[in-house]
Amino acid sequence: MIFKDKVFIVTGGSSGIGKATAQQLVARGAKVSITGRDKEKLEKTAGEVGALAIHADVSTEAGIERTMKETLDAFGSLHGLINNAGHGWVRKVGDYTWQDFEDVYRTNVFGAAMMGQAAAQYFKDKQYGNIVNIASTAALKGYAGGGIYSTSKFALRGLTQCWQAELRPFNIRVIGVNPSEVTTAFAQPGRMEREEVSNKLRGEEIAHAIVSALEMDDRGFIPELTVHATNPF
Ligand SMILES: NC(=O)c1ccc[n+]([C@@H]2O[C@H](COP(=O)([O-])OP(=O)(O)OC[C@H]3O[C@@H](n4cnc5c(N)ncnc54)[C@H](OP(=O)(O)O)[C@@H]3O)[C@@H](O)[C@H]2O)c1
Repeated sequence: MIFKDKVFIVTGGSSGIGKATAQQLVARGAKVSITGRDKEKLEKTAGEVGALAIHADVSTEAGIERTMKETLDAFGSLHGLINNAGHGWVRKVGDYTWQDFEDVYRTNVFGAAMMGQAAAQYFKDKQYGNIVNIASTAALKGYAGGGIYSTSKFALRGLTQCWQAELRPFNIRVIGVNPSEVTTAFAQPGRMEREEVSNKLRGEEIAHAIVSALEMDDRGFIPELTVHATNPF
């Protein structure tokens, strides 16, 4: 696809991978709306990146409706969704609570599914669209303490495969991206941004993978990409 004047929604675009992706899309001439729950952080990032800020929680129906409406009102169309908002933590069996499961699943699974559905409905009408689901290497193999987060990303990876089967006939490309560890605010105490570490992945590498996959001519699509640091040890 050619990015110039194409319209994207990046959920969770106020920091980390989502922010870097919004930046790279805007740099290629796309019009981008970003969402997040922390209004101040969101508006600051939108100003830096040159994106439209939509203060919306993807784990709520109202947040999803507003994200679609405000993007279409501002830009008049939609060509791609980067389904990126997500969070998680380490919890071992024995420490699970209903609340922890609900909290992570509402954003990483239910929110991503319903945001994807809202975009897919629009794309089906247009017979064109792109959805990128940001899962994780935690979606490929379980690990100690991953019972909540890792399983939520397994579910998102499953959704990606189901949508690929359902949406290809409508010219909708669905791409799964699995980042390994990225030095963002993810799972940090107080959600503080991490310092850049020279041998570990930054949001920029994941954004590069997303943009590169999308850039391929629309007749082709890459079902899944996994990104590792070359030598993180
Ligand atoms: N960092 C890693 O090592 C890593 C590895 C694999 C996969 N991932 C995945 O990559 C994605 C992005 O994470 P990141 O590393 O960039 O972390 P991050 O810097 O913490 O960014 C997460 C973004 O999602 C937003 N967000 C969280 N819950 C939301 C909700 N319910 N509604 C709307 N926005 C929400 C956050 O903003 P607010 O807090 O203001 O809402 C923020 O903009 C996540 O899906 C994560 O699971 C990360």
